[in-house]
Amino acid sequence: MSIERVGIIGAGTMGNGIAHLFARCGFEVLLCDVEQRFLDRGLETIGENLDRELARNKITAADKAAALKRIVPVLERSQFANCDFVVEAATEKFEIKAEIFRDLDRICRPEILLASNTSSISITRLAAVTARPEKIIGMHFFNPVPVMKLVEVIRGLDTAAETFQIVRDLALKLEKTPVEVNDAPGFVSNRVLMPMLNEAMYAVMEGVATPEAVDEVFKLGMAHAMGPLTLADFIGLDVCLDIMRVLQDGLGDPKYRPCPLLIKMVDAGWLGKKSGRGFYKY
Ligand SMILES: NC(=O)c1ccc[n+]([C@@H]2O[C@H](COP(=O)([O-])OP(=O)(O)OC[C@H]3O[C@@H](n4cnc5c(N)ncnc54)[C@H](O)[C@@H]3O)[C@@H](O)[C@H]2O)c1
Repeated sequence: MSIERVGIIGAGTMGNGIAHLFARCGFEVLLCDVEQRFLDRGLETIGENLDRELARNKITAADKAAALKRIVPVLERSQFANCDFVVEAATEKFEIKAEIFRDLDRICRPEILLASNTSSISITRLAAVTARPEKIIGMHFFNPVPVMKLVEVIRGLDTAAETFQIVRDLALKLEKTPVEVNDAPGFVSNRVLMPMLNEAMYAVMEGVATPEAVDEVFKLGMAHAMGPLTLADFIGLDVCLDIMRVLQDGLGDPKYRPCPLLIKMVDAGWLGKKSGRGFYKY
């Protein structure tokens, strides 16, 4: 099966990065969100990020123009009927994703693979809402998508070996490095990373250190490219909270309790970089 036209659901932080990547690698992209303003913002970000690649001589002005031309923004999911592959990158809530997968299962041709970019939600559970569980898979990109090399490829209980091969080959075509992981809450990346970010938030809440000091410890002492609180702001504090809740519900251990400061910040609308305020101001 040849994959030429890719549908992407969600034009937020990850969706616009995934659209950027596919378009830059020569795929036709349909980018879908629920409101025109989210599509406009996503396309604006893609333009800015392509400019950054242009400034670093990674692409030419002609490459940028061609990539932008390959992305068609749509509000109607029904337009995915002629897509050859779909990546869902909508908000990290099971109910939202389940509704999307049910609908995609109805809209897309039966042989089409449907991938989720979820950070933590069970691929097996998403697969179970469709009539094609063997064709459902996790394709977990990392932020910023055009830059980060890793794609965690997650096999649900019923994901076929052929589905895995196709998605692994696709990741390689996108010049990423796929790593195979089985379905479990948070997979590997967020099972390990998110409790660390959550613990850093507890340290701030308990007055152990300021966000700046916590971040310095990790940058200078552990050679991390950015500290845990900056990283949480970049990921989105709402996304961090959603993932902690998936770990808490799915694994049941009290060590996954979301930090009360995180809950309070999300309640206040401090979602990190995307809202202009999180542990830092942007
Ligand atoms: N932020 C990260 O660093 C990161 C990394 C890896 C994976 N993820 C995962 O990627 C997904 C998206 O996260 P994000 O950070 O881009 O979130 P985001 O809030 O930036 O964007 C989500 C987008 O989905 C749209 N959306 C919501 N419901 C929709 C629907 N029914 N149809 C179409 N669009 C819909 C929203 O309007 C929004 O534009 C989540 O599953 C998240 O866990 C996030």
